[in-house]
Amino acid sequence: MSIIKQCLFPVAGYGTRFLPATKAIPKEMLPILTKPLIQYAVEEAMSAGICSMVMVTSKHKKAIENHFKPHPEIEASIQNTTKESLLDEVNQAIEYCDFSYTEQQQMLGLGHAIYTGQALIGNAPFAVILPDDLCTSESDSVLLQMTKLYQQHPDCCIVAIEAVLESEVDKYGVIDGELLPNSSNAYRVHNMVEKPTAVEAPSNLAIIGRYILTSEIFTVLKDTPADKNGEIQITDALMTLAKQGKVIAYQFQGKRFDCGSINGFVKATHVFAKKLL
Ligand code: G1P
Repeated sequence: MSIIKQCLFPVAGYGTRFLPATKAIPKEMLPILTKPLIQYAVEEAMSAGICSMVMVTSKHKKAIENHFKPHPEIEASIQNTTKESLLDEVNQAIEYCDFSYTEQQQMLGLGHAIYTGQALIGNAPFAVILPDDLCTSESDSVLLQMTKLYQQHPDCCIVAIEAVLESEVDKYGVIDGELLPNSSNAYRVHNMVEKPTAVEAPSNLAIIGRYILTSEIFTVLKDTPADKNGEIQITDALMTLAKQGKVIAYQFQGKRFDCGSINGFVKATHVFAKKLL
């Protein structure tokens, strides 16, 4: 049994990079082949033993809620046809997991979105998946790898990282740290900076959209000031905990596609399509 039982998905954002596609359809419902990004994200959480899904959403995103509800009419229409199994995976998620929703009233950054989930998460460690970052792996999913590491460091938060080009660091939270003893992929974080310039960046190790957070993060977020753009950054809150030695950055095994960008979305589509052919 996983000690992480809940996963929070911040899904309130407008997805303006994909307009006009995202005018009436949430960006998390855009599919790579036939499966929407949010379903990949929920399946990754399930692979880590999590069955409580907490969506921090907005009133414009009812399609996400509908996706995780049974649809008896469609099911009846595909019964005993070659399409019968096409809803199996989403139906499994519906059967085994519970889904709860809370609305983020203002778009004040990822830290604010996570803080909005506090009432549903309560007082336990939890995972966060940003569905834009689609991760694949040959063996354990990225979140399962992270929950295994968390079990060895239960009072720490864990962020997933990957090395990116120097020209790309300004899109990410970037960390600096030192490898844990006997480890080649887990760092004790000393410094983290949200979207630095190449000159300011403490390294090229960028945070990607997978986190395990202890409930202490809520206390810290409450007092984390907004940045110069008026957003409360999870990176800034984590920096407060990093100063106490409580943040580990984990260089995961696997591949990540930035499906929040058109380039990454097309790449993911190609790679997934190739697997089918
Ligand atoms: C957020 C975080 C950033 C992180 C990124 C990963 O940024 O603020 O630290 O590196 O997700 O995808 P966003 O992409 O929401 O601007």
